[in-house]
Amino acid sequence: MSFKKIPVLRIGDFETDIPIVQGGMGVGISLAGLASAVANAGGIGVIATAGIGQFEPDWDTNSKEADKRALQKEIRKAKAKTDGIIGVNIMVALSDFDELVQCAVQEGANILFLGAGLPIRLPNTLPLDKLGEVATKFVPIVSSAKAAKLIFRSWVKRYCHVPDAVVVEGPLAGGHLGFKREHIDNPDYSLEKILPEVIAAIRPYEEQFNKSIPVIAAGGIYTGADIHKFMQLGALGVQMGTRFVATYECDASPEFKQAYLDCKKEDIVIIDSPVGLPGRAIRDEFLERVSSGVKETFKCPWKCLKSCDFKSVPYCIGRALTNAKEGNMEEGFAFAGANTYRVDKIVSVKELIETLIEEYDRSNAVVDASKKAGMNI
Ligand SMILES: Cc1cc2nc3c(=O)[nH]c(=O)nc-3n(C[C@H](O)[C@H](O)[C@H](O)COP(=O)(O)O)c2cc1C
Repeated sequence: MSFKKIPVLRIGDFETDIPIVQGGMGVGISLAGLASAVANAGGIGVIATAGIGQFEPDWDTNSKEADKRALQKEIRKAKAKTDGIIGVNIMVALSDFDELVQCAVQEGANILFLGAGLPIRLPNTLPLDKLGEVATKFVPIVSSAKAAKLIFRSWVKRYCHVPDAVVVEGPLAGGHLGFKREHIDNPDYSLEKILPEVIAAIRPYEEQFNKSIPVIAAGGIYTGADIHKFMQLGALGVQMGTRFVATYECDASPEFKQAYLDCKKEDIVIIDSPVGLPGRAIRDEFLERVSSGVKETFKCPWKCLKSCDFKSVPYCIGRALTNAKEGNMEEGFAFAGANTYRVDKIVSVKELIETLIEEYDRSNAVVDASKKAGMNI
């Protein structure tokens, strides 16, 4: 066949076989197991740091150290399992953002994905006057062109350097969303709308710094045809979360994955997370209970999220998500993307990626054929 195959994705010196980034999924959903499988399949595998230390014995008494130690272990484990590209997802909202960034760079993570807040500053422990020489690449996650501009302007001013790529996450994503509740269903904030805006905002910086800054689309991307669609709109890659939860290699419990298999469209809801952002999740008894006003009793050994007012929030989101990750769905809930109801089986990462590539190639062939026939698709 003559049509072009799925393209590679280049971020700095790193080049993938396929333009797919596995979205970082916190509280133990994406650890070394999932990340290394995705990297072995030719994509970018991402270890998420939110709550990563909760599985260490001293989490309650020594949380920051527990987080760093757990991250170090997961990066080493992933690197032992793959020669592919391993990223780390670090939420700017985490109280130990600086320590985790420093740790990931020291451990040789290839790419850092920085979301849930604007990474307008990097920790002072990095060589901020020569960021270009750091082997690790930096990729902010944004939900608007305005946020992208703020970050780029700040980096130019502070560091004379700009990020190596950008993820644009639209309102159909799972987990915390970078949108006001009332904007989530507004077409003006759809991924189709914000992706070209972010690309346009980044373009002048590509010229100024003479480097390619790929924009990666995320949120609701489910099939290879979706990947093709967003790449036609200018994305050079995609980030996907939900599809990777429904894999054998995903680090979540079977019960968590079963919640993905069992849910229906009407079960996917927007919640007001205790951290002050909306989030997308699967409705369950726990969420019914806390949304009816029942306040869970919990102890907070430390404030893991900068913005969490732990004395007044109705429940600890870190604990609830960890319970679900470990299979205790009665005491927690699962974050999930808008398309989760379409998940009907658990597959291997390899199988998933092969299917996505086949679907991508089919869409590409249709577009190629119609171009040849002079049609405008
Ligand atoms: C279970 C779950 C946990 C997530 N945790 C995080 C996280 O810790 N940090 C983050 O930046 N994004 C997080 N996300 C968002 C994903 O990385 C990804 O960008 C998003 O889910 C993409 O949308 P999709 O699920 O429709 O593919 C999470 C998503 C899910 C489904």
